[in-house]
Amino acid sequence: MKAWIIERLDGIEKARLTEVADPVPAAGEVVLRLTCAALNPADRYLAEGQYPAKPPLPHILGRDGSGTVVSSGAGVQDHLPGQKRAILRGGMGVSRWGTFAELVAVPAESLIEIPSGWTEEQAASASLVYVTAFQALTQWEDLPAQSVVLVTGASGGVGVASTQLGVAMGYTVIGLSRGSEKHAALRSLGAALLLDPADAQWHKTLGEFLGKRKVNLAIDNVGGPLFNQLIATLGNRGRISVVGRLAGEVPRFNTAAPFFRRLRIGGVAVGAYNQESRHAWKSSLDLLNKTAARPLIDLVARIRSIVYSAG
Ligand SMILES: NC(=O)c1ccc[n+]([C@@H]2O[C@H](COP(=O)([O-])OP(=O)(O)OC[C@H]3O[C@@H](n4cnc5c(N)ncnc54)[C@H](OP(=O)(O)O)[C@@H]3O)[C@@H](O)[C@H]2O)c1
Repeated sequence: MKAWIIERLDGIEKARLTEVADPVPAAGEVVLRLTCAALNPADRYLAEGQYPAKPPLPHILGRDGSGTVVSSGAGVQDHLPGQKRAILRGGMGVSRWGTFAELVAVPAESLIEIPSGWTEEQAASASLVYVTAFQALTQWEDLPAQSVVLVTGASGGVGVASTQLGVAMGYTVIGLSRGSEKHAALRSLGAALLLDPADAQWHKTLGEFLGKRKVNLAIDNVGGPLFNQLIATLGNRGRISVVGRLAGEVPRFNTAAPFFRRLRIGGVAVGAYNQESRHAWKSSLDLLNKTAARPLIDLVARIRSIVYSAG
């Protein structure tokens, strides 16, 4: 098969398209002929050696994908050749070969059906970001029903998923997104207010919008200097779900900030979900169906006969 392989952990741009042996399904596994694969920041981090996992090389990246079942190993009954499936989660692209290839072997318990009415592109782009967003929104047992949820990097995969799920849960969702060209799309998803973190007045605008209310939960995909500004928006016993750090380290973090208001900082780790990921996926689909929301696909790149989608 053709596959994009990395031979060193020296950057995703060094991946090259080449021929490798076709995967053979072990007992309990299914081989999918991929239609679409989604590119996540974690693929880039892994290729740069900035990820806990250090797979044997050469390695094929790609955690998310959808395609058609072509074969299966002993003991697989629910996935028949010709049926369409997508990947929920597992070691694909991390500890074993992933989806930036024509074929991928996947444990049967890691597969999901393509949700009714969804395209294969939508299914390929969805599982990692929705399951992450679900964890970020639900890991706090005491989040009030009418909460204000502030989402950074709102236009990204996790940001869009957090916005859609948060709106469906009945929260007031406020998005932080650089520039204003993406604000209209986020507003159409139900975000109550969009702010540009580069606007020095964003904090003031937020305060005017909220009046006496404060942010109950911030979902942070970005980190960096913005993190301290997020802390300042939280009310008593406010929470931050820490998802990503695209803007790097948090400078000059003052531990006084959390203790005066009893703030809580909670890490999100989608990889830590095992059994819970199926519940998170099912719950996410129920929420999306409630508001007729679907994954947003920004860009689809067709590479020879392989289709790669980024959501
Ligand atoms: N903890 C977990 O289990 C888990 C799971 C999934 C993802 N993640 C992490 O979560 C983060 C977001 O993932 P994603 O899939 O949503 O990524 P994405 O689709 O690339 O989107 C990230 C968004 O963040 C903003 N952004 C990007 N670079 C930035 C920078 N340097 N400074 C400020 N804002 C920046 C952009 O939004 P605007 O242009 O609108 O500002 C971008 O659309 C990544 O770090 C990823 O590795 C973690």
